[in-house]
Amino acid sequence: MNAKALKISFKEQLLQGIPKELPSKKAYPKNANQAPVRKDILTLEEKKLAIRNALRYFPKEWHAILSDEFADELKNYGRIYMHRFKPDYEMYARSIDVYPAKIKPAAAIMLMIQNNLNPSVAQHPEELITYGGNGAVFQNWAQYLLTMQYLATMTETQTLHMYSGHPMGLFPSTKDAPRVIVTNGMMVPNYSQPDDLERFNALGVTQYGQMTAGSFMYIGPQGIVHGTTITLMNAFRKILKSDENPKGKIFLTSGLGGMSGAQPKAGNITGCITVCAEVNMKAAKKRYEQGWADVLIDNLDDLVRTAKRAQMNNEVLAIAYIGNVVDVWECFYEEKIIVHVGSDQTSLHNPWSGGYYPVGLSFDEANVLIHENPKLFKEKVQKSLRAHVAIINKHAERGTYFFDYGNAFLLEASRAKADILASNNIDFKYPSYVQDILGPMCFDYGFGPFRWVCTSNKPADLDKTDAIAMNILTEIQATAPEEIQLQLSDNILWIKNAKENQMVVGSQARILYADAEGRSKIASAFNNAIASGEISAPVVLGRDHHDVSGTDSPYRETSNIKDGSKFTADMAIHNVIGDSFRGATWVSIHNGGGVGWGEVINGGFGMLLDGSKKAERNLQNMLFFDVNNGIARRSWARNNEAIFAIKREMERSPNLKVTLPTIVEDTLLEGLEF
Ligand SMILES: NC(=O)c1ccc[n+]([C@@H]2O[C@H](COP(=O)([O-])OP(=O)(O)OC[C@H]3O[C@@H](n4cnc5c(N)ncnc54)[C@H](O)[C@@H]3O)[C@@H](O)[C@H]2O)c1
Repeated sequence: MNAKALKISFKEQLLQGIPKELPSKKAYPKNANQAPVRKDILTLEEKKLAIRNALRYFPKEWHAILSDEFADELKNYGRIYMHRFKPDYEMYARSIDVYPAKIKPAAAIMLMIQNNLNPSVAQHPEELITYGGNGAVFQNWAQYLLTMQYLATMTETQTLHMYSGHPMGLFPSTKDAPRVIVTNGMMVPNYSQPDDLERFNALGVTQYGQMTAGSFMYIGPQGIVHGTTITLMNAFRKILKSDENPKGKIFLTSGLGGMSGAQPKAGNITGCITVCAEVNMKAAKKRYEQGWADVLIDNLDDLVRTAKRAQMNNEVLAIAYIGNVVDVWECFYEEKIIVHVGSDQTSLHNPWSGGYYPVGLSFDEANVLIHENPKLFKEKVQKSLRAHVAIINKHAERGTYFFDYGNAFLLEASRAKADILASNNIDFKYPSYVQDILGPMCFDYGFGPFRWVCTSNKPADLDKTDAIAMNILTEIQATAPEEIQLQLSDNILWIKNAKENQMVVGSQARILYADAEGRSKIASAFNNAIASGEISAPVVLGRDHHDVSGTDSPYRETSNIKDGSKFTADMAIHNVIGDSFRGATWVSIHNGGGVGWGEVINGGFGMLLDGSKKAERNLQNMLFFDVNNGIARRSWARNNEAIFAIKREMERSPNLKVTLPTIVEDTLLEGLEF
């Protein structure tokens, strides 16, 4: 520990940015969940450039020491994280009053950043990675220190511009402007191949911000538990008869990592048997010890016995299995165990650097191969994907409903030449969860993952917000049309049980799927409760980028857009620009996230509610646009549910005028000659 750093307080450390004196070198913490070593991709000259880039954060007199150290980091980790500069204070979201900021919005952002780096929230905290294997908040610790310093000193007429974790600086702006503008991984389009990310990230000039990591809006696994629960409940609804329930029925999947670890918990809330395979023993144990899985099993014989018994007894059970998921699919087929619902949540957005572990290799063997022979590793991943799909196909013949849960499984399987294409040789054999479930049932009506964080850090405030949100949804449901009754019921049930489900990890946060009306009414009621003192401190509003309007991603969020525009990214760009001048406290736009670098553009916002009239104006103005922008686009793509929703909104809001599509008769096109 650095004795000098200890002498100054937490607040002073935040204010000083890069320390005045060189902190002592740190040993890598023994029990840390280390990020996979990244590909050695830079040429010798590029390696020198990476060191030159890293050293520009520091005074010249430190360069001789740091250059050797950073060269070692580049060699050993494939990246320069600047571990020496990680602060010694504990990393977690404190209450908003603790931060030494001049303005509340800046303090709220500092709180959100620290929450995203809290070791109980973040997947690889030493490497500033929050989730998804490579979802970074910053590229290195110097960027963290400088950003916190800028936030601590900014005024209400300045805006901090952040380029992929690097704080470019504070620029004069206005009181109504966002306080922070974040971009992550934005590239000139031709430079967005996977190896471009490896190269430019290693050079220290870009990063993969995932969706919410790089925008400081990740709230721990709760967000994904809710989304997975909604998806899984509806997946079972699709295959079960009206008098059946999910008890005793198997949901087989993989991954117990940052987001995937939510699956067993969601399975228990849905009420099925979850079998979740995970090759990384540490990740599996973590979820088991957190109580997110009921049993931990490390051999196939025990797994088969437990699964069969649970099926026979109609149990609700979450099983974490340490091993490769392909082995489980194959073993269950041999053992004639019926899998009702299947999915996958390996990190296939990042297939060649440890996102997907090929069957036939141990976890440790695979990690060595990634580094020592990336070409052979890639071949093994693709071979494994072919086997993976082949065995899922056999289960599907027995009736399994398999869906892609947004990890690029179908896309990478098709690139690996697995037997994944439908008979028309264009579509995939299996739907993405957005095509079948979330798109038509939620996004097209405007329902998406709205969330909030109580900056007092007090559970009592969170309880109050839960109660307010439940009352508002119940009121809305009383007069809501039939089309959105189910969505409202599912979310009323969720919020009613949210506390009991003990979903809070890190800051006092809550997620809920709501439409534009629900989001605005809930936010407005929070703002009033803050003004009256019923809620003791400001509340941060936000959402997952994975939402109605925030994300253009042809194989995920916009996979149910069928007018050919799903490969465009206009919606996400309009969303973030539109939010930025309608009152957002911070906005972000990212390349990559969820399905991979170059495969998606996604954006989001954060908004601080402080009980003021200005906050009321902002929330009304911005939340309305934030949701209806996407509904308008989905409606223009001729999605019936979205046409219904935008027409309904235009009736309620005379100031909204959206171009509606004219539907063309099929018979007209059939008669055309070209
Ligand atoms: N649809 C959504 O809303 C949504 C939400 C969350 C995550 N995702 C996607 O799901 C993926 C997983 O996200 P995450 O945050 O959990 O990533 P993660 O890297 O933390 O976890 C993935 C886990 O899969 C394990 N794994 C890899 N190959 C395996 C195999 N063959 N068998 C068993 N286990 C294996 C890894 O060890 C890792 O722990 C990502 O691609 C992410 O983008 C989608």
